Amino acid sequence: MNDNLKENKNIFIKSYGCQMNVYDSNRIKDLFENKGYKIVNKIEDANLAVLNTCHIREKAAEKVYSDIGRIKKIKEKKTDKNFKLVVAGCVAQAEGEEIQKRSPFVDFVVGPQSYHKLPDMIDHSSTKINDEFLQNEKFKNLLFKSSNNVSEFVSIQEGCDKFCSFCVVPYTRGAEFSRPVEDVLNEIKNYSSNKIKEIILLGQNVNAYHGKGNDGKTKDLAYLINKISEIDQIKRIRYMTSHPIDMSDTLIAIHGQNPKLMPFLHLPIQSGSDKILKLMNRKHTVDEYIDVINKIKASRSDIALSSDFIVGFPGETDEDFENTMRFVEKIKFVIAYSFMYSPRPGTPSQKKDNIDITTKKARLSALQSLLKQQQVKFNKSFVDHEMEILFEKTGRHENQYVGRTIYNQSAFISHSNNLINKIIKVKVSRSTDFALECQL
Ligand code: SAH
Ligand code: SF4
Ligand code: F3S
Repeated sequence: MNDNLKENKNIFIKSYGCQMNVYDSNRIKDLFENKGYKIVNKIEDANLAVLNTCHIREKAAEKVYSDIGRIKKIKEKKTDKNFKLVVAGCVAQAEGEEIQKRSPFVDFVVGPQSYHKLPDMIDHSSTKINDEFLQNEKFKNLLFKSSNNVSEFVSIQEGCDKFCSFCVVPYTRGAEFSRPVEDVLNEIKNYSSNKIKEIILLGQNVNAYHGKGNDGKTKDLAYLINKISEIDQIKRIRYMTSHPIDMSDTLIAIHGQNPKLMPFLHLPIQSGSDKILKLMNRKHTVDEYIDVINKIKASRSDIALSSDFIVGFPGETDEDFENTMRFVEKIKFVIAYSFMYSPRPGTPSQKKDNIDITTKKARLSALQSLLKQQQVKFNKSFVDHEMEILFEKTGRHENQYVGRTIYNQSAFISHSNNLINKIIKVKVSRSTDFALECQL
């Protein structure tokens, strides 16, 4: 390593995209803190910057290139000429060579399954690009430093074998891989020495989890959740994101049996039209999705449901879109995320994009307003009721604390005592569009 970096070890990390990237950024932070680096919040103060990028939609990828352009200017102004820029994450995996061509001053490019090699790459300046799929080796070499968080993400599964025709994830994250049960438990036990009360299990297809147990046999997500719930200090468990075809009966059953498993399920469907679901290669129909929902409601009647939607997928007619709207009206999601279809390089549906932007925008706006109405109505239904909140952090105002309900709604309260890390029953006094105001 050059002397300047040795003396002046300040690292700036920016995370784009999903929670799995947030988790990975935390691991990158752990790796570099272990080498004596300090985290800084401003790129101007850093001599090493890591952009942990997302490739899911065109806008996400473009943002990275515009940030790289901005950083180039900052780099040129720096007196420390040894400033290094790393592009990590899913754009790095998908467009490693292109990044180096378009932006030659990017020093290192590292994919989501090989970022454990980053400290070495920087020390020796030998390899500029690493896009190997080294899931097993990666998890063995990561550090899981104890944090001060009340709630902690834990990646238990990575990659995807589903190949939805619109999606880059199988290419950027590789094949499905599950961490062994013991490794996951050890990571959580490591966190539980601190404040931690909630674990959010992550995976691109988290409910396809099939990790090795101590007896050498494969264990499913239900088994893992039950094992985690034996850790006294952990009071709340969540998991995301799930695919409808992997919602097994055992997983559905524990929603009714395990009180630490929160009554919230993020289950993307993408479209309410069977024709579009088939074109998307989602491997299930609308009715099959509804069957899963009915089973889960039978297991846990108050389950709060969330989903993802894509509008303007190639071939989506007005009627297909109407089917999505009718479907949403029927299911009543408590929250949902919706996006305009974005053609992605290398995916089967990339070349088929045929819905004009005006139609896409109109459909997105109609869907989002319906989803918002449902969310607002759901939140309003709790006004004057008591709810248990896990308070996680301070809010924007003085003496304000922010946390989550069991249904994953955001909630806030003003109080003179520090409520962080407490699970408290409070009364909901008001609901804003996206959060609940509470009183003790
Ligand atoms: N593994 C999850 C989600 C992965 S990506 C699942 O199975 O659903 C998160 C969301 O981004 C997807 O659910 C989808 O709604 C959206 N998305 C993915 N690719 C997209 C694309 N090409 N255009 C628009 N939205 C997309
Ligand atoms: Fe992408 Fe489909 Fe896999 Fe989800 S299930 S990550 S949408 S390919
Ligand atoms: Fe984006 Fe990669 Fe996550 S493409 S959504 S950062 S898995």
